[in-house]
Amino acid sequence: MSLPGISKVAFGGDYNPEQWPEDVWKEDYRLFDAARIDTVTLGVFDWALTQPAPDVYDFALLDRIVERASAEGRQICLATGTGAHPAWLARAHPEVTRTDFEGRKHRYGQRHNSCPSSPVFRRLSTELARRIAQRYAGNPAIVAWHVGNEYGGACYCDLCAAAFRDWLRDRYGSLDALNAAWYTTFWSHTFTNWDEIEPPSALTEHWRGPNHTAFQGITLDYLRFMSDAMLGNFRDEKAAIRESSPDVPVTTNFMGMYRPIDYHRWAPHLDFASWDNYPPDDNSPAWMALAHDLMRGLKDGQPFWLMEQTPSYTASRDVNPLKRPGVMRLWSWQAVAHGADAVLFFQLRASRGACEKYHGAVVGHAGRQDTRIFREVAEVGAELDRLGPATLGARTPARVALLFDWDSWWALEISDGPSRLLRYQQIVHAYYRALWEAGVDVDVLPVTADLAGYQVVVAPALHMLKGDLAQRLAAVAERGGSVLTTFLSGRVDEDDNAFLMDVPGPLGPLTGIRIDEWDARGPEVVNPVRLHGAGPEAEIEVESRLLFELVIPQGAEVVGTYQADFYAGTPAVTRNSYGAGHGWYVAAGLDQPGVSWVVRRVLERHDLVGPYADVPGLESTVRVGPDGTRLRFLLNHGTEPVETTAHAAGTDLLGGERIAPGQPIRLAAKGVLVLREESSPAGPATNSDEDRDGTR
Ligand code: GLA
Ligand code: ZN
Repeated sequence: MSLPGISKVAFGGDYNPEQWPEDVWKEDYRLFDAARIDTVTLGVFDWALTQPAPDVYDFALLDRIVERASAEGRQICLATGTGAHPAWLARAHPEVTRTDFEGRKHRYGQRHNSCPSSPVFRRLSTELARRIAQRYAGNPAIVAWHVGNEYGGACYCDLCAAAFRDWLRDRYGSLDALNAAWYTTFWSHTFTNWDEIEPPSALTEHWRGPNHTAFQGITLDYLRFMSDAMLGNFRDEKAAIRESSPDVPVTTNFMGMYRPIDYHRWAPHLDFASWDNYPPDDNSPAWMALAHDLMRGLKDGQPFWLMEQTPSYTASRDVNPLKRPGVMRLWSWQAVAHGADAVLFFQLRASRGACEKYHGAVVGHAGRQDTRIFREVAEVGAELDRLGPATLGARTPARVALLFDWDSWWALEISDGPSRLLRYQQIVHAYYRALWEAGVDVDVLPVTADLAGYQVVVAPALHMLKGDLAQRLAAVAERGGSVLTTFLSGRVDEDDNAFLMDVPGPLGPLTGIRIDEWDARGPEVVNPVRLHGAGPEAEIEVESRLLFELVIPQGAEVVGTYQADFYAGTPAVTRNSYGAGHGWYVAAGLDQPGVSWVVRRVLERHDLVGPYADVPGLESTVRVGPDGTRLRFLLNHGTEPVETTAHAAGTDLLGGERIAPGQPIRLAAKGVLVLREESSPAGPATNSDEDRDGTR
């Protein structure tokens, strides 16, 4: 499904005309025309404007802004404006500010600053959303509602403590159940009254910092609670919008792999997913691809919006590098290649003052259009016009699923032992990157997803095993698929208590191994791992670091062995035949070549390595339109041109040229090719394909 009313990839971004005199607005729209900007996100931080005093709502300026955008023929993504509360609110109701992890009660300032449990915040944010929807709901220019902004952070105030206790009562029913789940017999922590329960903070269980807790159970539940509390804020506003706007889709802007909020628990409550792409550096295309795929997986593969990206630089980092020529275009197409139906910027015109005055914008302080940045934006605008509706509603025909789980992320990183050097995102990224380099489409999914359609399921560091997941993974192998999991998987149950059985717990039968011991070392300690392939040329030696689990096969075949230490010669990688398929286990922190080698063996068995694999820096993805049109995206992230040959006939949708199979194709550095493929040797890959080993 694509959004109703959208006829091409939406293009534009956050626009704050309330920061400018009205004579500038006219010039803005002239520039937007020149850049083919068709969508504006309005009012994201307008609370102080729309409600200047407790009983005063004033929509005069927002009316003019919305009228102008509508009259100029733009699509509007209209925000409720509750991402920052007004100063008068904090003064009148100090409860509205947050208390931080160290126990400091905040005074007025900043943004994303409201306590999610504050009754005043909940009442007034909901009321504002209600009034905005009432006022603007009938406007056909509004294509989406944008609630709040980048929900996140946490609060540790007394209101949150009380709400946490309510949340716990709901979850556990009794203190006995809670004490059992949190294992409170340890260190005499047994609770005998709900009011004894404190939010886990620097003052209570976390003397050594946010990731160091004495009680994983309470910390994990507080993370879950805080995510739910903010979801409650979103849902309140959404319900208020729905009173007068029954159909226009509602979203809020997510942040990709953002640890504090469990987006999987939020996703059912959004009508479509959207997110802000500010990658940690400018050299990690697989990292961004992973985040895009995670966002697409939130709504079962439904297209998402790229709600924000900078056209040039951010301002929030200590050092803010500039996007090189072609990079903004490349990353915009990467978003589309992974399922975006919108390419939006933060922001359209640069702020004159405050902390984002040096944040990049389509239009800078001088208001020029003869800048490189404006020109590149306008070029992307023109390309998206040319593309038209081709990608709208298109799906990714992935046969590989990668499981991503916030509970496992939290549990792993708040754990004392085996090692604080193991970071969930980095482990997941290594496996994702191996898939990315092999040129396969991947669905990044919650652990509750239906796995029936996938040939390969990769579950790195699946620390926590909940519900019937072990059985569902076993079923993938049973019917001929491959499941690949790693060290630190199958360790704990939903309450973060160890399974009373051999590691990897309920994954034992599928993986055909058990683990009695493990060794964690600093990054300077390397244990080489020899990986054994089919022929002698397939045998390689790679490095492993950080964690070394000692594997005792219980039927699994040994694929890789440690080369050093007292466990030299014992298994580091195994493969177990299970039903018609396999359960793989990687027991060591393999380096990237090691991870890639293992992933390749798994993919090869299912003939899934993509036709453009291994061209350095070249990313390849496929989307299949609702009418079966197959679109191939080729993206050269490298700094040098690449050459390859077309594996299928197609038409270059940006250049217009026809390309024959076997024809050489050349992509300039940062180049993009969007091909409408006519056929592919493997046949059309749709979600209903029969696969050769019957897994589809
Ligand atoms: C976030 C916010 C925006 C802006 C940008 C700057 O994504 O949503 O309001 O602050 O960062 O990068
Ligand atoms: Zn609070």
